[in-house]
Formats: sequence, structure tokens, C-alpha cells
Amino acid sequence: MQNKRILLGITGGIAAYKIATLIRYFIKSGAEVKCIMTPASVDFISPLTIATLSKNPVYQSFWDAKTGEWSNHVALALWADVLVIAPCTANSLAKLAIGLSDNLLVTTYLSAKCPVFIAPAMDLDMYQHSTTKRNLQTLKKDGNFILPAQSGELASGLSGEGRMMEPEDIFKAIESFLVADSALDFANKKVIVTAGPTYELIDPVRFIGNHSSGKMGVEIALELARRGADVILVLGPSNLNPKHANLKCVSVQSAEEMFSVVKKNWKSQNIGVFSAAVADYKPKKVANEKIKKSDANLTIELIKNPDILLWAGENKKNQILVGFALETENEESNAKAKLQKKNLDAVVLNSLKNDGAGFGGDTNKITIFDKDNKSIDFQLKSKTEVAKDIVNFLLKMKN
Ligand code: C5P
Repeated sequence: MQNKRILLGITGGIAAYKIATLIRYFIKSGAEVKCIMTPASVDFISPLTIATLSKNPVYQSFWDAKTGEWSNHVALALWADVLVIAPCTANSLAKLAIGLSDNLLVTTYLSAKCPVFIAPAMDLDMYQHSTTKRNLQTLKKDGNFILPAQSGELASGLSGEGRMMEPEDIFKAIESFLVADSALDFANKKVIVTAGPTYELIDPVRFIGNHSSGKMGVEIALELARRGADVILVLGPSNLNPKHANLKCVSVQSAEEMFSVVKKNWKSQNIGVFSAAVADYKPKKVANEKIKKSDANLTIELIKNPDILLWAGENKKNQILVGFALETENEESNAKAKLQKKNLDAVVLNSLKNDGAGFGGDTNKITIFDKDNKSIDFQLKSKTEVAKDIVNFLLKMKN
């Protein structure tokens, strides 16, 4: 992590004592570390320890009472490649979520343009509280990365979810983020990724949709962006709000809308990864007003949606095109048939029969088939790791 700049925010929780170890990991890896401590955190670990280990002065308040020197939070935020807030207490979490800037750390957070990682740590009831959950959700939506708390013994004597992620795992998460950043093996490549479900309107309040969360495609788009690609992510309705300097996220609702963004951009792309769970059918007519309940049954006539991937395959010129197949039966033959029919270079199969694979969750288990009839099976992994496998596969095809 030579030359990587880590700005570490420490808040007032018992897990603060573990931050000494985290700083050591960063320093040993060659990174530069500067720390901001909130007023409450100094009761848990001494600024002298933090300053000594980080090899830098510790920033604690807007100005130094002894020297009268001002701590420039904007400069601190601009200096950092990444801001890591660990441990992040329920109190600081709430401040970050609403933008309350009453100390140097939260003020710096508001000035930060770099990626922000937040490692919450608190007692289990606090972690389970709907307020905390809501705040975490808000921070995630705002584009921050949450390093989720772990289960185990807590300082209160209780046992459950709330322990700060172990320093070694925090270090690994940041390292893989920053190191992937520097392996720019997709520089100068333009990639379009489709992700998420599509919603097909029935009337102004109802739609046909599916359970896709968009996570798999979003992780692929982010991995490509980190590795230097210029990425357009066409994202159906989703709670996710991925952010990266190399990523342009276009939000769409229906298959038609997704199709028009793809049609407009496909010609200029080098690679297409189509992971969206596009609705195959849509209502023939969208009612202008809410359809009223009556005693009779209701029949909605459905017509076919455009097959976006098929169109991209038919209009492919020296481009790499990868599709997805989510199957519940005859997985392999269906996936291979899709590869042929849609003129793909590879198809990623995830079977709903595998536990932990497919929609919604944080993990996936995939097999990739290529057009030479070769296939690779991957283990069940987090979607972030699966995205790396898919992008590494793309790299082999591109070279
Ligand atoms: O044919 P099937 O829908 O099973 O194929 C799945 C693949 O095709 C996925 O990559 C999906 O993103 C893409 N697809 C599409 N447009 C559709 C239906 C599927 O791009 N209307």
C-alpha cells in the first residue's frame, strides 16, 4: 500500500483500543496514516499511542489551544485516498447520517470526496435498534461502505452482533479496495453493465417486477471502475447507490427504458455485461388511473419486452458480450443455448438450486461458460469476490 493515504477517524467506543493494531497493519503495509480522534475517544485510547503508531500528529479539534493553530478539515479530507471511521459509535453514526458537524471528524467527513468506510461498534441492543439500522441504511445509500459489526462477546458481558470488525479484516477490506484500484488493467476500456430488476407498470400504483437487488451487477460495475474502466451502469429500481469516479450510473425503471440507454451506448463500448433481471413481459396497456377492485376476476394481457441482450449480440462488432442465466432446471444446457442464441462470448450461470446463490443475498455461486464450450466452476463467495472472478475472466478474454 505504498503511498496510499489513510485518514482514520476514531470515535469513543471500547473497540478504540483495537485501533492501535489496525494502525500497525496500515503502517507495515507502507501506507501513510493520519488520525482524527473525537473528544470521547481519548477516554478509550491515548492520543500519544495513536500519534506514535501513526507517525503523525493526531487531530482532535478545530484548533490547537496551545499553538492557536487551525486544523484544516478540508485539506485533511482532500489529502486522504480513503477515510476509515473505526470504531464508529451509535452517536457518531447518527451524526454522520444527518450531517451534524460538531466535531472535527464529522466535519471532515462532510468535506471528503474519497471513499468512506465505516466500522460500527456498539452493544447488541443498540446495533439492533431501528434507529441504528436506519442510519446505517442512510449512510450506505449515501455511497459509504459499511464494514458490518460481527457477532461475539461484547464489553457489556452480553453476546451478539455489535463487535467491531476485527482490525485484520478491516485492513484486508481497505487493502483489497485500494490495491484493486491501482491494478488498472481495464484502463481505456469502455464497459456497459446492466443490473437490477425492471418494473413494468400496470397502472399508476402497480407494477410487475422481480426480486433482483442489483447487487451482483453493481459489484461488477464497481470492480471494473476500480480497475480503470470507463463504466456505464444501467440500473433498474434498486436501493443501491454505487459511487466511483469512473462510473456513471443511469437509473431506469422499465425494460424499454433500459433498452433505450443500451441502444444509445452499445456501439461505443468495448465490453457489455448484462446482468439485469429484465422482465420478459409487460402489460399491453398501462391504465391511466388506478384499476378499481370489482367482483370479477381481472385479466391483464402481457406482451413481450425487447430482449436487450439479444439485440446487443445481433449488433456486436469486435466487442465482448457477457450475459447471465438464472435457471431452475437444465441449467447447463439452458445456459449454453443462451450463449449460442444471443451471440455471447460467455454466460454466467447461477442456479437457484444452490443455497446462497442468486437474488437478494450477499453471496453467489457461479459457473462461467465460454463460446469454446469451456466452463469454470467457482465456489460460493461474497458477491464482491464473485465480481472479481468475473472481471478476471473478462480480462483473459480481452487479452
Ligand atoms: O433469456 P433469458 O432472459 O434467460 O436471458 C438472461 C440474460 O439476458 C441476462 O443476461 C439478462 O440480462 C438478459 N436479458 C435482457 N433483456 C431481456 C431479457 C433478458 O437483456 N428482455
